[in-house]
Amino acid sequence: MDDVQPVEPFHTGLRIGDVAPSFTARSTCGPVDLQDYRGKWVVFFSHPADFTPVCTSEFVALAKREADFAQRDCALIGLSVDSLMSHLAWLRLIRDRFGVEVRFPLVEDPTMVIGEAYGMIGNEDSDSATVRSTYFIDPDGVIRAISTYPANVGRSIPEMLRLLDALQAADARDALVPADWQKGQPLLKQVGTDIDDVFQSPDASGWFTAEDPA
Ligand code: BEZ
Repeated sequence: MDDVQPVEPFHTGLRIGDVAPSFTARSTCGPVDLQDYRGKWVVFFSHPADFTPVCTSEFVALAKREADFAQRDCALIGLSVDSLMSHLAWLRLIRDRFGVEVRFPLVEDPTMVIGEAYGMIGNEDSDSATVRSTYFIDPDGVIRAISTYPANVGRSIPEMLRLLDALQAADARDALVPADWQKGQPLLKQVGTDIDDVFQSPDASGWFTAEDPA
């Protein structure tokens, strides 16, 4: 193993459990101050560039499901390094071409100050663009989940909603969420971190028998 190179120091970006950095910025819906969203869930996400195919597909898909986020008391906020003028022109094109109105704010970040704070800026190969980062921020302003996708793959809106449901159900029931869980399915008891604590628990199954009511 002599030829193993020392690894780079750990990237000191934001992590789950950190308070989401506050910011104020111009957006397609007027000024946005993240502090104003306290008390709500927020999905704050970046995309590489306006007018690009995958990003357009994401915005069309998100706009169509915005009511589903609102139903979960969750606001959507998008961001890229493009200017407000560019954002407005792009959303107009989306409306004209796809018949979809994007009603959630799309923040401009031409100086990349927000993207830098959130670790949304790509590596040296694409150092002027944000990657597809998604931050799930709870009503206390705490980051509860983070995802990063490459520029060439769009995110799954059903998975965003499922993760939101999972975070909310886990909080409401003080429970754990098993693989492939969907809203309404049983949750795991919060009995311990050892597999035997769960599968040898008094009710034999280790699962909640009641459906998650959330
Ligand atoms: C897109 O959204 O289609 C895209 C953006 C940046 C790089 C590659 C694809």
